[in-house]
Amino acid sequence: MAMAGERLLVHCLAVMLLIALVEGATNEPTICNIALTKLKLCRPAVTGKYPPPPTKECCSLMKQANLTCLCKFKEALPAFEIDPARAFALPKKCNLRTPPQCKV
Ligand SMILES: *[C@@H]1O[C@H](CO)[C@@H](O)[C@H](O)[C@H]1NC(C)=O
Repeated sequence: MAMAGERLLVHCLAVMLLIALVEGATNEPTICNIALTKLKLCRPAVTGKYPPPPTKECCSLMKQANLTCLCKFKEALPAFEIDPARAFALPKKCNLRTPPQCKV
C-alpha cells in the first residue's frame, strides 16, 4: 500500500511540475529547455534493462538542456518511465558534464 501511495505522489508531483512548466511557455512546451515533443528521442537510452547508447539527436538535445534544472526532476522522472540513474548518465555518454548536485 505504501508503495502505491508513493507512486501516486510522485506521479502527481510530476504532473504538477509539468503543468507549471508548460504554462508560461509561449510556443512549444519545454522542460528545462528540452521540448517535450523531443523527449522521446532520448527515451530508448533511458528505459529498459539494457538501453542502447544515446543517439546523436538525443545528445544534441542534452547539450541544449539545462541539466541543473533537470536535476530537480530526479524524483519525478520515473513517472515519465525514465530511470533517473540512466537519465543522468546520459550527459556523460554525450561527453557533457553532469552537474555535481545531480549525482545519483
Ligand atoms: C538552469 O536552471 C537553473 C535552476 O532552475 C536556473 O537557476 C538557471 O538559471 C538555468 N540556467 C539556464 C542557462 O537557463
